[in-house]
Amino acid sequence: MMELTEAARPLTGRTSLEDWQSSPVGAPLLSALLARKGIDESSLAPALRLSLASFVEISRGQITQDEVDELVRAANDGELVVDEDGATGSAARFVNKTVIVTGAASGIGRATTQRIIAEGGRVIAVDLFAERLSELSAAHPEGSIVTVRADVTDPQSVQEIVTAAGEAPIDGLANVAGITDGHRPLHETSDEIWQKVMAVNVDGPFRLTRALIPLMRGRKGGAVVNVASEASMRGNAAGTAYTVSKHAIVGLTRSAAFLYAPDNIRINAVAPGPVATGIEGAFASEFSERRIGPFMRMIPPVADPAAIAASIAWLLSDDSSNVNGVVLPSDGGWSVQ
Ligand SMILES: NC(=O)c1ccc[n+]([C@@H]2O[C@H](COP(=O)([O-])OP(=O)(O)OC[C@H]3O[C@@H](n4cnc5c(N)ncnc54)[C@H](O)[C@@H]3O)[C@@H](O)[C@H]2O)c1
Repeated sequence: MMELTEAARPLTGRTSLEDWQSSPVGAPLLSALLARKGIDESSLAPALRLSLASFVEISRGQITQDEVDELVRAANDGELVVDEDGATGSAARFVNKTVIVTGAASGIGRATTQRIIAEGGRVIAVDLFAERLSELSAAHPEGSIVTVRADVTDPQSVQEIVTAAGEAPIDGLANVAGITDGHRPLHETSDEIWQKVMAVNVDGPFRLTRALIPLMRGRKGGAVVNVASEASMRGNAAGTAYTVSKHAIVGLTRSAAFLYAPDNIRINAVAPGPVATGIEGAFASEFSERRIGPFMRMIPPVADPAAIAASIAWLLSDDSSNVNGVVLPSDGGWSVQ
C-alpha cells in the first residue's frame, strides 16, 4: 500500500523556531547563527512558537532581516522562499469599512493594521513615528491606509486623526498605543512616570473615544476595542502605574459599553499576555524583579502580534455582534493560572 506522507513545508521567516529546531536542515543553521550572536539557545524556550522573522523586531537589532533571509536561503538551496502572509484567509470582514488604529507603527497595532487591510478595510494608522508609518504605508495598496503622525496624549491631535478619515464614516477604533512603566513598584514611581503612563494608556483612548462616540451615535453603529493587559486582571504582571492604567481602561470599556449599547456601539477590550513586540519589557527596579520576576517565569509562551490582532479584528468585526463590554484574554491561558 502506498504510504501517504505530507510534503515537507519549506523553512521560511514565518516558520516557528520550534520547527527550525526540529528540522535536520534548519537546526544546525539556526544554532550557528545564535552561536555567532552569542545567544544561548536555551534562553529562547519561552519564545519557541514565534516565527524566526519576529526576532528581527524583538532582538532590537541583534538579529537583522538580512540574516533571517540568509538563513532561509541556506535552508532552501539558495532560494529566498517567502510564505503567504497567512493573515488574509478567506475573510473579508472590513470591506468598505474604515478603522482608526493607534500605535500602528509597531507590534500589536501594526499587526492589527495589516489584518484589517488584508480583510479589505481602510485604516487610519496613528503613531508617533512617521518613518515607520511610511514603511507600513508603502507595503500596502494605495487607498487602504492613511497615516497620521500624532501623539495620542496631545488633545490637539484628536481632531487631526478624525479628519484624516475624510468623508467616510468611521466604523471602528482600536486604541492600541501604550507604554509600560519598567515594572516599577509604587514606592519607586515618580510623578513623571505615573503621568506619562496614564496619559498614553488612559487619557489617549478616553479622548479619541469621546471624539468618535457622537459620530457613531449619529449613524447608530460602531465598534471600539481597547487594548488592556494581563495587568488589568491581576497585581503581579507589571508595575503599579501600568497596572492601574490597564485596570482603568477596563473601567472605561465597561462604562462606555453599557452607556452606548442602545446606539448599537460595542466597546470591548482585549487583554494580551506576553507578545513579541517592540515594547519595553525590562525591569527598571530590583525590588520588582525580586517580587514579580518569579511569577513571570511561569507564564505562557510569548505570542506573535498577529495572534492578538486576530482577537482585536474579531471584536471589531460583525462576527462579534452579540459581544459588548467584555475583556477578552488573548494570552495563551495566563488568566486561568
Ligand atoms: N507586548 C506585550 O507583551 C503586551 C502585553 C499586554 C498588553 N500590551 C499592550 O499592547 C499595546 C501595544 O503594545 P505593543 O506591545 O504592540 O508595543 P509596541 O511598543 O511594539 O507598540 C506600541 C506603539 O505605540 C506607539 N505609541 C506609544 N506612545 C504613543 C503616543 N503617545 N502616541 C501615539 N503612538 C504612541 C509607539 O510608537 C509604538 O509604535 C499597548 O497598549 C500595551 O500596553 C502589550
